[in-house]
Amino acid sequence: MSNPAQRANKLFVQTFGTTADDLYLAPGRVNLIGEHTDYNDGFVLPAAINFHTIIAVKRREDDTFRAVSDAFSGDIKTWQFGQEGQPEEQGSWINYLKGFTSALATSGLPAKGLDLAVVGNVPLGAGLSSSAALEIAFGTAVNDCSQLRLSPLAVAQMAQRGENQYVGCACGIMDQMISALGEQDHALLIDCEDLDSEPVPIPESLSLIIINSNVQRGLVESEYNLRREQCEAVANHFGVESLRHVSLGQLEAAKAQLDETAYKRARHVLTENRRTQQASQALASNDIARLSELMAQSHQSMRDDFEITVPAIDQLVEMIDKVIGNQGGVRMTGGGFGGCVVALVDHALTDAVVETVEANYAKATGLEATVYLCSASDGATRLDEDLY
Ligand code: GLA
Repeated sequence: MSNPAQRANKLFVQTFGTTADDLYLAPGRVNLIGEHTDYNDGFVLPAAINFHTIIAVKRREDDTFRAVSDAFSGDIKTWQFGQEGQPEEQGSWINYLKGFTSALATSGLPAKGLDLAVVGNVPLGAGLSSSAALEIAFGTAVNDCSQLRLSPLAVAQMAQRGENQYVGCACGIMDQMISALGEQDHALLIDCEDLDSEPVPIPESLSLIIINSNVQRGLVESEYNLRREQCEAVANHFGVESLRHVSLGQLEAAKAQLDETAYKRARHVLTENRRTQQASQALASNDIARLSELMAQSHQSMRDDFEITVPAIDQLVEMIDKVIGNQGGVRMTGGGFGGCVVALVDHALTDAVVETVEANYAKATGLEATVYLCSASDGATRLDEDLY
């Protein structure tokens, strides 16, 4: 059974012996440019993708939550609202749901319980934000079923709070925001300082291709948190709240007083903010050659200044870049240390990109890549009955 909505309904019936009331869905995401800028109050340009988490739910009269997931077949997980207890082992899917209810409870908001069955097709651990898709699908369901009337942005903020405070990951707001607010055929330029966002049309002439390097991601969390601390240390040096309030000129002038690593980390963030705003303009005006240049510079900056790429990813980017030239852009996407590469290329070059990956990647690295041909999608929603 390939239709995920039917799978969610079926899992619900098998688990709880009755039918679900409603289905909620939220997408994974790919970031086109603006990496590690969100927690520095900077700019990001992600798109929601047509890979989703879907949750079938039934309302309960008490405050008990019972959840099951087809990706982690096992026991039904049960907890009471506001009594989430300690998180389970790191990375456990249930932590993301408990994180959300825990954040609601801490904020003084009430919620009724739910029975729920989770299915999805967002690749897990690939850097495409399967965890944000899970949080936002669940958060949207709770918001709706308990009539909390939170805006999609407020649901995203609540999910981030849960991840920061309960799950223990110091992530920024990008993944949750795009999963909640994505728009079909558009990327979203987000200003992470005031959380303003603006849809940017992706030209019809371009294919959105994601290539999973299948590099085993290691040390992601510790390296992520370390990068965040390094950025905050530079902001502290300047006596400001975040790197958003430091200019490139100020950074250059202070170079001698900063250690070299700290300087490089900050240089990545400041230049990436500029590139992200420029890339959004290039996309809006269909200037693909400029977009190509900016994505290439972003990759170099992640490789040399922020040091979050790995050799297999660099090789993947290089081989695709050779094929697309200035008719598209390619760079690593997401937190780094493995994960995926994103390419935005003229449709005519899609086959050539896939062929070069098939012909060269395994030979160069000993790994098999997985290619996803994607489209930019809408954010989280309740599924209308006639759509499933
Ligand atoms: C992860 C985090 C995001 C963001 C990216 C890097 O996906 O969850 O908040 O920091 O890494 O851009």
